[in-house]
Amino acid sequence: MSGLIVNGDTSGISLAAERLIAGGLVAFPTETVYGLGADATQVHAVSRIFTVKNRPPNHPLIVHIASAEFLDYWAIARRPEVNQLIDHFWPGPLTLILDCSEKFSYLTGGQKKIGLRNSSHPIFASLMDKFTSSGGKGIAAPSANRFGQVSPTNAAEVNIELGKYMEFEKDLILDGGDSDLGIESTIIDCTLERFEILRPGPITTSELAEIVGYLPIRKFQSSTRHSGGLDSHYQPKTPVTLNSKPTIGDALIALDSETTPEGVIRLSCPRDAKEFAQGLYKAFRRADELGVKRLCVSFPVENPEFEAILDRVSKAAQ
Ligand code: TXA
Ligand code: MG
Repeated sequence: MSGLIVNGDTSGISLAAERLIAGGLVAFPTETVYGLGADATQVHAVSRIFTVKNRPPNHPLIVHIASAEFLDYWAIARRPEVNQLIDHFWPGPLTLILDCSEKFSYLTGGQKKIGLRNSSHPIFASLMDKFTSSGGKGIAAPSANRFGQVSPTNAAEVNIELGKYMEFEKDLILDGGDSDLGIESTIIDCTLERFEILRPGPITTSELAEIVGYLPIRKFQSSTRHSGGLDSHYQPKTPVTLNSKPTIGDALIALDSETTPEGVIRLSCPRDAKEFAQGLYKAFRRADELGVKRLCVSFPVENPEFEAILDRVSKAAQ
């Protein structure tokens, strides 16, 4: 294990909060995937996220906050439905895009819209507690992978992705085991008259519709710039195909009701959409490790419970 990885216990969390306040980078667990965080008020610390991730500077970052009480620090006036979304889904896997002032353009890729999220992970909550008691306002954090690669769902995967670009004694990786959900948060743009989904995720479009009172449309080409909106993203090195028949030497991810053809390497047998999402990126990584010639992913594309999985697999298959 690398010297960067620290146990997510009380002393690890205190050290992580200190490192953030000192301008260091801290990778931390959330219920979706691991994030690579910096104190969002420190421009230089934030700029290091882009370097470590090799991320283009005009791609906006999500700011993670301790509770809705910190919204007013980052965002300006919001529509009433936003409060209802917060009441229902925070803390949890929902990122809200809200209007903000120009002074945060170093976080937003130059747009006057900011992404805000409050994770439900207990280690995140404790980290935020320490961080805010030292005056912290928010942690800017994209997923803790190199740009365009697969999001990590545990500390060891973060270390493989980013360890060699992080600085020992300045940065650290907080270990909180495996992320429960396995895919990134749902992103909803709340700056428009009718809210739009920028990235489907664990909170489904129909769950959002129940709260806002209409079906928010899924925007593929949004006026709001977002890297998850690129056609190709979340990509393993192994070629991925969606719902094509695997042949000898291929790897397969499919529901447990599907059998494995002879000579095919079965990577996971999830029982439902939740388990499918949970193990998806791990199976992507495993396919790369095994060096299989093709990774076939199979699931009922028309089932709305699989909307986020369809999004990620389609992008991986580009
Ligand atoms: O579950 C998650 O959301 C994870 C954990 C760590 O919180 N974070 C995550 O961040 O997936 P990232 O940067 O890998 O993906 C966030 C997406 C990107 O596509 C980014 O462009 C978009 O959110 N985004 C962030 N701020 C935005 C903004 N102001 N306007 C539009 N899109 C934004
Ligand atoms: Mg990402």
